[in-house]
Amino acid sequence: MDQTLAGPLGQAGQAVRDRWGERPLAFVRTYGCQQNVADGEKIKGLLEQMGFGFTESPEDASFVLFNTCAVREHAEDRVFGNVGALKNQKRRRPDMVIAVCGCMTEQAQAADRLRKSFPFVDMVFGTGAIHRLPELMLDVLTQSKRAFLQGCQEEARLEGLPIRRDGKSRAWVTAMYGCDNFCSYCIVPYVRGREKSREPGAVLAECQGLVEAGYKEITLLGQNVNSYGKGLSSPTNFAGLLRDLDKIPGDYRIRFMTSHPKDASEELFQVMAESRHIPRHIHLPFQSGNDRVLSEMNRRYTREKYLSLIQAARRLMPDITFTSDVIVGFPGETYQEFQDTLSLIREVEFVNLFTFIYSPRAGTKAAGMPDPISHKEKTEWFAELLRVQEEIAARNCQKLVGSRQRVLVESRNEKTGLLQGRTPGSLTVDFPGGPEKVGGFAQVEVTEARGWALRGVEIKA
Ligand code: SAH
Ligand code: SF4
Ligand code: F3S
Repeated sequence: MDQTLAGPLGQAGQAVRDRWGERPLAFVRTYGCQQNVADGEKIKGLLEQMGFGFTESPEDASFVLFNTCAVREHAEDRVFGNVGALKNQKRRRPDMVIAVCGCMTEQAQAADRLRKSFPFVDMVFGTGAIHRLPELMLDVLTQSKRAFLQGCQEEARLEGLPIRRDGKSRAWVTAMYGCDNFCSYCIVPYVRGREKSREPGAVLAECQGLVEAGYKEITLLGQNVNSYGKGLSSPTNFAGLLRDLDKIPGDYRIRFMTSHPKDASEELFQVMAESRHIPRHIHLPFQSGNDRVLSEMNRRYTREKYLSLIQAARRLMPDITFTSDVIVGFPGETYQEFQDTLSLIREVEFVNLFTFIYSPRAGTKAAGMPDPISHKEKTEWFAELLRVQEEIAARNCQKLVGSRQRVLVESRNEKTGLLQGRTPGSLTVDFPGGPEKVGGFAQVEVTEARGWALRGVEIKA
């Protein structure tokens, strides 16, 4: 662990014991993307070192923390709702501490709203200030004052933080922080700061440690992993990082997200094709299938470039699968332009799509663009898109019936006795089996596709 942390952690731990006794409970709720989940695991690592245990119920918790997302309005509304619901608890238990962190708090408006309208919130800290949690805890507990800390992007200080991972077989590893792309609809560059790659040695050591500890799937994280390596002292790129990680001996998978099409390269596909540990699946968000909309979104690729990437990947790996993100109803998008999105979906045949109706974010360029299409209409377009994708997903599933898949077993439904495993291509298959299988690989024959859900039976490897 980072030695400079030992002092503040020790003092905060003492203050925690003085306030709540031995092993008080913390409730940590994370919203948003995997990057936030990874941050949440660092926060829990720090809380654990301060002496906290964990609970799933805020009623039992001395320390309640919401790790927030700002990517769409809905995400923010939920947080304000859940924080507001704690007001009465805090009145009954004034010794509890309520904290809000994550992307939402990096927006001045949201931080102001927390400051003024939620006086029972004791602590607010931004995405680059996780390592300061022990100091903030000490301030709140010993000085009985509210602590607010935003705009502190000190990613280097996040190296070496203790991590309390949620899973025992799947792990998240940050490859890079922040984003420099400023897609015109997106708040992330404002709340996560500038792009910054971790040193390859640090990523490698973390992954090696995870494989040695028995982890079976490592997902490398970054808003745009394909621009990994910029600004590092020794030149490297994402394909190079993957090539090195693939050399770690053991039985495991490496996934990564998110790839931005403007920076995806043939070299990346080449590494995937040659690798032993990278499944042949890529999450490659296209957002829109229309060139005018893509340009207004500031995505910096065209429909043709996107489709040529898909072709290049398929040439090298005929069995590769694709997933993607798409936005419906970007300001000024016409129904005709939306049809280009549908035709791209039909052309690529994604196995899964993450679909969003455009949500204006204050401070972004798109929030100032004229947006004449009503929400009702956008909702209808959205439903049309889902219908198209459902058909494609069902067809993709049907193609797998009769195939044999090596799946990583992610969970078991106690009621049905069915295990759920993920194929290399990132589809889930349900099959009967005992709880001891969870967290390991299993060889499964796909017997049936019900819509876009696969069923199978385990077979001998
Ligand atoms: N860095 C990733 C995306 C991170 S945000 C990338 O560039 O692909 C995850 C997804 O949320 C985006 O891909 C986009 O589809 C969606 N999204 C982002 N901002 C949005 C907004 N304002 N309204 C609706 N969807 C949005
Ligand atoms: Fe947002 Fe674009 Fe950055 Fe992705 S690449 S996080 S969509 S600005
Ligand atoms: Fe949300 Fe922040 Fe991720 S805004 S999507 S949690 S980077």
